[in-house]
Amino acid sequence: MAGQSDISFARGAPSLDIIAVDELKAAADRAFSSDPKGAFSYGTAAGYAPLLEWIAGRHEVPEEQVIATNGSMQADAFLFDHLVQPGDTVVIEAPTYDRTLLALQKLGAELLAIPVEVDGLEVDALERALSSGARPKLAHVIPNFHNPAGVTLSLDKRRRLIELATEHDFVVFEDDPYAELRFEGEPLPTMLSLDDSDSVVYASSFSKTVCPGIRVGYLAGPQALIKDIRKTATETYISPSMVSQSIVAEFCRSGAIESSISTVKEALHERRDRTAEALERELGDDAGFVKPEGGYFMWVDLPDGTDGDALEMTARQHGVIFVKGTDFLLEGGESSLRIAYSGVTPAEIDDGVGRLAEAFRELAGARA
Ligand SMILES: Cc1ncc(COP(=O)(O)O)c(C=O)c1O
Repeated sequence: MAGQSDISFARGAPSLDIIAVDELKAAADRAFSSDPKGAFSYGTAAGYAPLLEWIAGRHEVPEEQVIATNGSMQADAFLFDHLVQPGDTVVIEAPTYDRTLLALQKLGAELLAIPVEVDGLEVDALERALSSGARPKLAHVIPNFHNPAGVTLSLDKRRRLIELATEHDFVVFEDDPYAELRFEGEPLPTMLSLDDSDSVVYASSFSKTVCPGIRVGYLAGPQALIKDIRKTATETYISPSMVSQSIVAEFCRSGAIESSISTVKEALHERRDRTAEALERELGDDAGFVKPEGGYFMWVDLPDGTDGDALEMTARQHGVIFVKGTDFLLEGGESSLRIAYSGVTPAEIDDGVGRLAEAFRELAGARA
């Protein structure tokens, strides 16, 4: 609409006001003064040593089991390249992160989509598929505050998934960038920490706890696999960005990361509440959603028969943007959408959900 700027619920990124800009400047200053050689040289493909030490300590694994990469997307790409050949079966969640879907499709994987429930992946459905002969190499799972579904995998399901992976000899890829952003309920152990059979490879990121522009993520997993991936990393880029990793290391070691996480959590909690209230107020029973206990995303189901493509276009005309449910699925999702509340202020949330509801009513009116 003329005269108003668009409100975007589309990007899974934080707004600038919840990034610890001053603390990052101070961390950069300290990192560059205390270890200029480490920050400004090529490093090793494994990553900046003090950062590896911090990550290894956080997950209580030896440093040899960690590689720090340029964002966790790079970590995912290395892992997929190592484990997945064209035609291999890979378990994905339905819905799942759209970039994972694209990366695995590009590799020619045979995708076995297992539904996601309010307590995460439907592990019983996976078990049935395994009993019927499915032989996956890998299962990609987003355990906390799922992107896009917002849900969290229960402890029982985490345990069962590891048992299934051990029994049926597949790797669980625990893709966990949102773990630290819990603003309600009790934290659950990572599958990495529950596993004693080398069945889990864990990935996380500083995109959501420090800032996405820093592009630092990591993998932690079995030593032999990490060793191979370190070799590929050398061949790919010699070393990841030591400048970025030295800043993150300093940010973590100084404790600045803990206050950054609490700032982000406080803001996201308010934004989640505001989104839920606005959806209830503006769309009532027409919007079905589960309130996430943390993270960035809310998955919204609109009444069956809602045309997501048409709604997206109409919503754009009303000045609000979201990602359609179909982008996160191999099939289905036509009447669903993902709302990322991470990058919008509470006032924008009210306004944006109001615009979404207007677009929805306009379409419903046209259909009637
Ligand atoms: C589930 C999941 N994995 C990986 C990523 C990529 O994170 P990074 O910024 O570390 O590359 C994201 C980012 O949105 C994500 O939601």
